[in-house]
Amino acid sequence: MPTPVIIDCDPGHDDVFAIWLAAANPEIDLRAITSVAGNGRIEHTTLNARIACTVAGIHGVPIARGAAEPLAQELEPAEWIHGANALGGPELPEPTVPLDERDAVQLIRDVLTESDRPVVVIATGPLTNIAHVVQRHPEVLAKIDRVVWMGGSTGRGNVSAYAEFNAWTDPESIQVVLDSGVAFTMVGLNISHQALITPQVRARVRAAGNRTGSFGYELLEFFCSTYNTFEGMPDGPLHDPITVAMVIDPAVATTVETRMDVELKGTETRGATCVDLLNITKRPKNATVALDLDVERFWSLIEAAVRALD
Ligand code: BDR
Ligand code: CA
Repeated sequence: MPTPVIIDCDPGHDDVFAIWLAAANPEIDLRAITSVAGNGRIEHTTLNARIACTVAGIHGVPIARGAAEPLAQELEPAEWIHGANALGGPELPEPTVPLDERDAVQLIRDVLTESDRPVVVIATGPLTNIAHVVQRHPEVLAKIDRVVWMGGSTGRGNVSAYAEFNAWTDPESIQVVLDSGVAFTMVGLNISHQALITPQVRARVRAAGNRTGSFGYELLEFFCSTYNTFEGMPDGPLHDPITVAMVIDPAVATTVETRMDVELKGTETRGATCVDLLNITKRPKNATVALDLDVERFWSLIEAAVRALD
């Protein structure tokens, strides 16, 4: 039976591929998409979620707008990577897929309440909405199978020396979710930088020969060009869909049960995820952390999803 899933995201180029993979793969029952501010302001990420579905012909999945600001700081969108509208590159169509009347927290609560089975919450942006669910609706947490989050890193960051963008944007939200006791998987830069969008990968996406493939190809070209400019990586990393791939096929990545904490203070390290891989602190394990990606298995899933869509 397919796994019920909610995607909470801030599209964003790689978020779009996460939505597409979840919608197209038969192992996933995509119950809702919720937007959060991150790569762009909430107006853009919400619109982009609807555009991602419109382009790929994804209908019937409710899309709701989420938090406009992180819990305790002002948003700084990642325009240098994703462009001013958070989805630089292709010409963006007017979305035909509607916006749900509920906000993200209400929609997540409703989906969890109505599900007869635990739901996997996949988060590919800052954890703001999920923290709001924890704070406002603790009664539904038992219906969350686990939160699988793209963010953080076991090592270096990409916004500061040790902070990854989603973590850096809303560190307090990570703490709230970890403290809730809900099962938590971190998919950080240490694994996402193994999913490099080589020219061969881009060609495979375009070769699908459909609208999703050509739109996706333009997204990837733009994303790789900004990664080249700002991080010296001509083959940028497709971070977010690794979360979805791990729900579809656990063999796509190795993981370890470990202790992770988030730095909320540090003068240079706020937003850093401190992953105690060597069990130095002897503190209770509170997370599953992804380590190594089966790269070809991952790209095969992406290619099949793009081909299966419009
Ligand atoms: C993360 O930040 C965003 O730019 C991407 O969408 C991804 O979720 C990578 O640091
Ligand atoms: Ca994202």
